[in-house]
Amino acid sequence: MGWRRSGSGALCGVVSCVVGVMVCVVVVAMVVYLMFRPNLLHATAAQAELSTFSLALKAWTLTYNLSLAVDLTRHNARLALRYHSLTADAYYQDQRFAHTRLPDFAQPAITNTTRLTPSFHGRQQLFAGVAAAAFRREDTQGTYSIHVFIDAKTHINLAWPITLPGPNINLHCPLRLHLSNATADHFFHPTACHISY
Ligand SMILES: *[C@@H]1O[C@H](CO)[C@@H](O)[C@H](O)[C@H]1NC(C)=O
Ligand SMILES: *[C@@H]1O[C@H](CO)[C@@H](O)[C@H](O)[C@H]1NC(C)=O
Ligand SMILES: *[C@@H]1O[C@H](CO)[C@@H](O)[C@H](O)[C@H]1NC(C)=O
Repeated sequence: MGWRRSGSGALCGVVSCVVGVMVCVVVVAMVVYLMFRPNLLHATAAQAELSTFSLALKAWTLTYNLSLAVDLTRHNARLALRYHSLTADAYYQDQRFAHTRLPDFAQPAITNTTRLTPSFHGRQQLFAGVAAAAFRREDTQGTYSIHVFIDAKTHINLAWPITLPGPNINLHCPLRLHLSNATADHFFHPTACHISY
């Protein structure tokens, strides 16, 4: 008797567990849909300053000093979002030359823009060949093609203290940059960044 009762109790437990998981999945899917409908999130490289970008011949050492302002805007968001574990990476000719971390931040459940300001400076050895040829070509034109990627993990703040893990957000900003100097005003066209999840 006792065995039967506990058996059906266990079956009930399994059924309600399965139903619970399904409800959870549906709720999470709705939340994600509400938050990440197309056009909800925009990222723009609003400012960029490249004060050093040179490649030493033979050693193929790239010396760089780049600072950026990337505006991340969420339009009419329904839920507050917390961004964490943010990293920014800069690439030249598919070779990563710089990496940095960015501070965590939160965006409220309204339209809000957060400005991210990654800056990179230092030296990095590149593999010669393609990078060197492209550098020579771009150096004579005075414009460098630099790609910046920003990756973030997110948490959705449902109602304090309840949070759900949100999707990872990846930004890709394809930039065309001139060297800036004190005399010339370094003109930069704001550039849209691509977003993927
Ligand atoms: C990088 O450039 C900025 C100006 O854009 C300057 O203030 C800063 O000192 C430079 N950093 C290094 C390490 O040269
Ligand atoms: C929007 O986000 C910024 C942080 O980037 C914050 O300082 C500001 O208070 C937010 N605006 C509102 C209305 O919450
Ligand atoms: C600054 O840039 C301008 C235009 O790119 C160039 O003509 C000028 O020589 C540069 N000045 C210095 C000090 O490098």
